[in-house]
Amino acid sequence: MKFASEWVPDGNEPDLAEGRVDLQPVRTVAGEGYVTATKAVRECTTDRRRDPNPSLRPVLDLFCGVGGFSNGFEATGEFEVVAGADLLGDRLDTFCANHPTAIGHGGDIRGLSADALLSGTPQPFVVIGGPPCQGFSSIRPFRNIEWNDPRNNLGEEFCRVVAATNPEWLVFENVVGLLKHDRGRALTALVGGFEALGYRVSYRVLNAAYYGLPQRRERLIIVGSRKGKPFEWPTPSHRHNHRSMAGNSNVLITPQVGLFDDTAPALTLMDAIGDLPQLSSGQRAEHYACVPQNRYQELLRFNSETLTMHNATAHSPEMLNIIRHAGSNIHALPPGMVTSGFSTCYSRLDADEPANTITVNFVHPASNRCIHPFQDRALTPREGARLQSFPDVFKFTGTRSQIVKQIGNAVPPLLGKVIAEAILDAE
Ligand SMILES: C[S@@+](CC[C@H](N)C(=O)[O-])C[C@H]1O[C@@H](n2cnc3c(N)ncnc32)[C@H](O)[C@@H]1O
Repeated sequence: MKFASEWVPDGNEPDLAEGRVDLQPVRTVAGEGYVTATKAVRECTTDRRRDPNPSLRPVLDLFCGVGGFSNGFEATGEFEVVAGADLLGDRLDTFCANHPTAIGHGGDIRGLSADALLSGTPQPFVVIGGPPCQGFSSIRPFRNIEWNDPRNNLGEEFCRVVAATNPEWLVFENVVGLLKHDRGRALTALVGGFEALGYRVSYRVLNAAYYGLPQRRERLIIVGSRKGKPFEWPTPSHRHNHRSMAGNSNVLITPQVGLFDDTAPALTLMDAIGDLPQLSSGQRAEHYACVPQNRYQELLRFNSETLTMHNATAHSPEMLNIIRHAGSNIHALPPGMVTSGFSTCYSRLDADEPANTITVNFVHPASNRCIHPFQDRALTPREGARLQSFPDVFKFTGTRSQIVKQIGNAVPPLLGKVIAEAILDAE
């Protein structure tokens, strides 16, 4: 058996075992931090390091990445992750390092049978997962969309595993762009698929900033109950003015603002990272500069004494010049300083607002708004992890650039926790 990090598709992968789904070779899709198989990749399975606790509800995480979503479920103290599946070895390594009761399945999910997924694993109480969203990403709305883009068909795989494992609940996470993708047909097909399996389904757009996170990350969440239990969507605890990707759609959850409003103002960027030492381009720090300044920092530090991943990208002199001129959007730069880019490229974050959505490139100033508000550098991996609500003790493995993608692609653990708690309330 190989551990995930040792397994690298080399182009000589064996054919899929008989009886498996017939895999079409898929293109490698460049950019946006996304890699997919060029052909069927060899499957690998990692050992579980600790037996699951039978009194906790088992979770199966598909497209698990590092398990940000899983982490949120486990943070309730009522769920335990028993298995996860992901294409990429570095994601699975991090997932397994943080979820000792889970078996990790590496490889293309289209080659993974339900029998293999369930072998040695209790029947899941809930199947969670967020297939790659870049095919219909909201950050680059509806560019280059092809219906046969291999990334857009992985929702069917989620359905296939739900059908085979028959969990009490399903939770499917994706980008808001899925609402309108293919004129809504993709979403209708997915919801219809879950309903055909007997699930009572509802979906909403949740904004992480409304639930106590320092980030305006919006995601479409679909929840289904096999026993038809009524699911109450969580009520926002925080308020913030934000123009949603979902427009005025009635599936968008917004905070109640009015006379009896008891929401708190949304957390800001500096609420999340203000206790981290100041750095220049290329510098790193391994000690906290001060004690936690607020409840969020205290919660995320988790009594950690050593500071990790607080290392700034070493920017070139040309980039440092751009950074010094950077403001809230690309138009703040002197004319001609950069020749191309979206309006949010080469832009500084606001100190006293929640951050915009963290992407897989947040250590590169040319990417979506990721320059520190006062320091002349892009965010560090630790700052990105804070904005995504990963505890400082979460063990990320891999190279720095893999870790940045692991962070940017994740479901924020605290958002996962809010959804998990709503399921517990419905039980
Ligand atoms: C949006 S990320 C999931 C993040 C995860 N839910 C978390 O909270 O950390 C999507 C994941 O799907 C994985 N993936 C992409 N194509 C896949 C495939 N064909 N089979 C299995 N996993 C795949 C990617 O490697 C990536 O880690």
